Amino acid sequence: MQRINVFDTTLRDGEQSAGVNLNFEEKIEIAKQLERLGVDIIEAGFPASSQGDFNSVKAIADTVRGSSVTGLSRSLQKEIDISWDALKGGAEPRLHVFIATSPIHMTHKLKMTPDQVVEAAVDSVKYASQRFPHVQWSAEDACRSDLDFLVRIVEKVIDAGASVINIPDTVGYITPQEIGHIFSYLKHNVPNIDKAKLSAHCHDDLGMAVANSLAAIENGAEQVECTINGIGERAGNASLEEIAVALKIRGDFYQAETGLKLNEIKRTSTLVSKLTGMAVPNNKAVVGDNAFAHESGIHQDGVLKEKTTYEIITPELVGVSSNRMVLGKHSGRHAFKEKVKELGYTATEEQIKKVFKEFKELADKKKEVTEDDIFALMTEEKIGSAVKYYEVETIQVNYGTTNIPTATITMTNPDGELVQEAATGSGSVEAVYNTLERIINAPIVLKDYRIQSITGGRDALAEVYVKVLFNDVESSGRGTAHDVLEASAKAYVNAVNRILNRKNRSEVAESKVHI
Ligand code: KIV
Ligand code: ZN
Repeated sequence: MQRINVFDTTLRDGEQSAGVNLNFEEKIEIAKQLERLGVDIIEAGFPASSQGDFNSVKAIADTVRGSSVTGLSRSLQKEIDISWDALKGGAEPRLHVFIATSPIHMTHKLKMTPDQVVEAAVDSVKYASQRFPHVQWSAEDACRSDLDFLVRIVEKVIDAGASVINIPDTVGYITPQEIGHIFSYLKHNVPNIDKAKLSAHCHDDLGMAVANSLAAIENGAEQVECTINGIGERAGNASLEEIAVALKIRGDFYQAETGLKLNEIKRTSTLVSKLTGMAVPNNKAVVGDNAFAHESGIHQDGVLKEKTTYEIITPELVGVSSNRMVLGKHSGRHAFKEKVKELGYTATEEQIKKVFKEFKELADKKKEVTEDDIFALMTEEKIGSAVKYYEVETIQVNYGTTNIPTATITMTNPDGELVQEAATGSGSVEAVYNTLERIINAPIVLKDYRIQSITGGRDALAEVYVKVLFNDVESSGRGTAHDVLEASAKAYVNAVNRILNRKNRSEVAESKVHI
């Protein structure tokens, strides 16, 4: 079996998805989960693009030990230096440096001749190799580049010190047969190709990113670049879970395998979806809610007689929990702490104390507290650990079909004072939001509101996701509670707090360079 390295770019290309803006704590939480999942390389961001990206890439490089952490850089010495400062504390510092090689990009974007591009690529790889033990070089828009030009530049950057050559289908244009040809052509025509690994990086504009990545593997790629849930620029990147499970289930065909812990897939997908606010479609392969649901009578009958009639992937393979009851209201702190550890969280005593109290409250209201509930409570505590400028203390809502909904809310403001306000609305949620807006005393536009339950059942926890515009800055927020109005209020306040936290770190005003 050929061992395929998994290069995850959820925190870089994935974070370039429209509307996604992860904060520092969320990026660290995702990086830790990627490490748990066993990805070989984590692309943590683009250090030179903003101070915020620099800080999170540095923190991830300094924290993660089980995966190699990398960051993206253009072919500029200044950016390579900044990347080194961010990545040097990593277990295996790695730079990902790129330049475009297609005629369209060289002429219109770079305004450089092919010879100038070769020179810039070679110089950047040589410069990076003086510091980084591993340098990956990418030919942006490789799949629309001239093949013989690719052969020429790849040979030169390998000589300059690149140990991984990445071939991106930047615009999601290629077909499986064509990308297969590119990889096989490079394998057969670059004289020093044995000194480097070939990598595929596919976008999904025509819905072929996963198929293209697999075709690249069939033709010599030893690394795939992908994102959790396939999030990414425009239509997204190749989805990690689909590639990993295809290689596992069809190992007989691909003769290739990854080092991933596949049973961490579902949890990673849920975490990324929760923190990015990008919902996973029900019918999404491997991680969608319907991926293991058999609806038609004939299928159900077949599965009851013999699972393999209609099920090629078992839910257990990817860690879809049976949602069994894990702890109850009589469970003690010790058992709770052990469960949190088993779920993969490293939490401080203070965090355990706080979440244990919430767990006890939940266990009083809810018959069965599941792993998913504990995961939701823990995630909320971990990522909500940034400064809470505003905090909801009490909510009272008056609703009846014949009267005007009214909310009364008590909240702690940034000066630590307890303030109370009341307002009406055409519905209960609107009344809550009008009241919060009154307390925050600034116009807040609600741009998106979504609600879902964490588990099934009438007593399930509610999870609300909102997108708001506050002080001309757009932000998302989440809130989890047993009651939908409380979850709605928490999500709204969380979005405002996130903006104030970003402002405080002076990240908002920066123009992040998105490539
Ligand atoms: O899609 C792309 O070309 C990229 C490169 C920067 C690797 O993301
Ligand atoms: Zn990309």
